[in-house]
Amino acid sequence: MVKAVVAGAAGGIGQPLSLLLKLSPYVQDLALYDVVNSPGVAADLSHISTEGSVKGYLSKDDGLKEAMTGADIVVIPAGIPRKPGMTRDDLFKINAGIVRDIVTGVAQYAPNAFVLIISNPVNSTVPIAAEVLKQHKVFNPKKLFGVTTLDVVRAQTFTASVVGASDPAKFTVPVIGGHSGDTIVPLLSLTEPKVEIPQDKYEALVNRIQFGGDEVVKAKDGAGSATLSMAYAGFRFAEAVLKGAAGEKNIVEPTFVFLDGVEGGAEVKKAVGVDYFSVPVKFGPSGAESVQSPLNSISETEKKLIEVAVKGLQGNIAKGVEFIANPPAK
Ligand code: NAD
Ligand code: LMR
Repeated sequence: MVKAVVAGAAGGIGQPLSLLLKLSPYVQDLALYDVVNSPGVAADLSHISTEGSVKGYLSKDDGLKEAMTGADIVVIPAGIPRKPGMTRDDLFKINAGIVRDIVTGVAQYAPNAFVLIISNPVNSTVPIAAEVLKQHKVFNPKKLFGVTTLDVVRAQTFTASVVGASDPAKFTVPVIGGHSGDTIVPLLSLTEPKVEIPQDKYEALVNRIQFGGDEVVKAKDGAGSATLSMAYAGFRFAEAVLKGAAGEKNIVEPTFVFLDGVEGGAEVKKAVGVDYFSVPVKFGPSGAESVQSPLNSISETEKKLIEVAVKGLQGNIAKGVEFIANPPAK
C-alpha cells in the first residue's frame, strides 16, 4: 500500500495534483496537508469512485505529524507563487521557511519517503530540504527530487509546435540545469525522434522554454503562476517515481538532484562544477538509480547555455545551504 502526502494541498497546484493522485492506481492512501482548507478538499475528493482513501490535515492538532506518519512519497507545492515583475528568487524569503518546516516534518515522521519539491525557487528549496534532512541524519539523495518536469513538458509542447507536429507527447526532449530562466537548458539537439529546428527559430524556442513560466504569470495578471500544467507535470513525475519503486523498467525523467549521491552523478558534477543539477535520472525501487548523462553528445551552443546556467545555479544553491547553516534572525 502506498501512502502519498501533498503538502500545500489546498492551493492552485495542490488541488488538481491531489485530484490526479486520487485517480492513480499507484496510490492507496492520500493525505492532504495545508494550513487552510485541506479537510474540505479531502471531503470533496473522497466522493470520487476510485480505490483508496483520502484525508485532510491542518497544521493545528499535530496535522503535520499525522499526515506524514507512514508516508512513502511526499509532494510539496506549499508556498507563495509569483506575481508579474517577480523572479522565483523573490519567493525565497517566504518559501524557504515553509519548505524547511515541512521537510522537518518529513525527517521526523517519514524519514524513508521520496520527497518531491515543487515550491519555488526550486534551485534553492532543494538544497534547503537536503540540509534539513542531513541535520536529522536521514538524507538519502536517491529520494530527494526537485520537480523540473514542467520544463520538459513545455519543451515537448513548444518543440512540436515549431516543427508542426500534432502530438507533443511523441517527443522526448531532455531539459537539464535548474528551474528558473537561463538556468533551464533544453537539449534540442537530443530530441527523439530527431527534429530540424530552423536556425532562425532556435533562439526563440530556447527562450520560450526557459521563460515559459513568465508567459503564464503575465497571462494570469496577478492571480498566480502555472497551476494546472504544473499539476500535470508534478503528477507525471510522481508516477514516474512510483513506477520505478514498483519495479517497472526504463522509467527516466529529468530531475534536480544532489549529484554526488546518485550513480553517475559525480561525473556530471565534475563537468559542470555544481552540487545540484537537473539531469535525466533512471528510477528503480530505491529511487534515483542512476544519472543518464547527456553531456557527451550535446552541441557547442548547448555547452554555452550550460555555462550560463551554472553561474546562476551556484548562487541559488549556496543561498539555500546558507539558510539552514546560518538561519536568519527571526
Ligand atoms: P497557491 O498559493 O495557490 O498554493 C499554495 C498553498 O500552500 C496554499 O494552499 C497555502 O495555504 C499552502 N501553504 C502555505 N504555507 C504552508 C505551510 N507552511 N504548510 C502547508 N501549506 C502551506 O500557490 P501555487 O500556485 O499552488 O504554487 C505553489 C508553489 O509552487 C509556488 O512556490 C510556485 O512558485 C511553485 N511552482 C513551482 C513550479 C515548478 O515547476 N517547480 C511550477 C509552478 C509553481
Ligand atoms: C513555472 O515554471 O511555471 C513555475 O516555476 C512558476 C513560475 O513562477 O513561473
